[in-house]
Amino acid sequence: MKIFLDTASLKEIHEAAALGVVDGITTNPSLLAKESGDPEGILVEICNTIDGPISGEVVATDAEGMVREGRHLASLHKNIVVKVPCIAEGLKATKILAAEGRRVNMTLIFSPSQALLAAKAGARYVSPFVGRLDDISTPGMEIVADIIQIFDHYDYDCEVLAASLRHPMHVIEAAKMGADIGTMPMSVFTALLKHPLTDIGLRRFLDDWEKVKSQMAASRR
Ligand code: G3P
Repeated sequence: MKIFLDTASLKEIHEAAALGVVDGITTNPSLLAKESGDPEGILVEICNTIDGPISGEVVATDAEGMVREGRHLASLHKNIVVKVPCIAEGLKATKILAAEGRRVNMTLIFSPSQALLAAKAGARYVSPFVGRLDDISTPGMEIVADIIQIFDHYDYDCEVLAASLRHPMHVIEAAKMGADIGTMPMSVFTALLKHPLTDIGLRRFLDDWEKVKSQMAASRR
């Protein structure tokens, strides 16, 4: 499964990029609003840091405006993927942008039927929001499973991007289901690596090695 970070923080992106396992970035207007500086400049710097798909979202709500913004975003850098909300105008815009060869990430997906329509419109990625469904007592992961099952029957050139992942188990469940991509905040990404037994085990190895070094030094005296 490809790992994307769901952030517009250049600090976090530089830190995570150094680990060499981040395949792409998803941003949205809320994430960009948390950062200071010009959003387009931030997007370009993200693209120059991670050589993978970088989602930048349109804010127009009519198809014409979405297409105009999408073309502009895509012109900023070859890595930009145009993020479009899953509404009727978004489907129209996706059809046009996809026909021009631009990659669209259809976002704010909360049902398998929305994902099916997004794929038919030509979206390159669909983003079901797992955590936000869980928030309203609806099992978000089941939507991801349904979308994967539907896409398995057909040849849509569309990847399932599990989004709004809130904890490591969301990531594991998405990977077990075969989601193509999981996007997550830095806190979840960091938690994927951390294990207390790794830290305890490493401490013990290093302490034991220190003992070997002292014994060797003593035997040379
Ligand atoms: O990628 C979607 C993500 O930004 C939404 O996450 O945690 O705000 O539901 P969350």
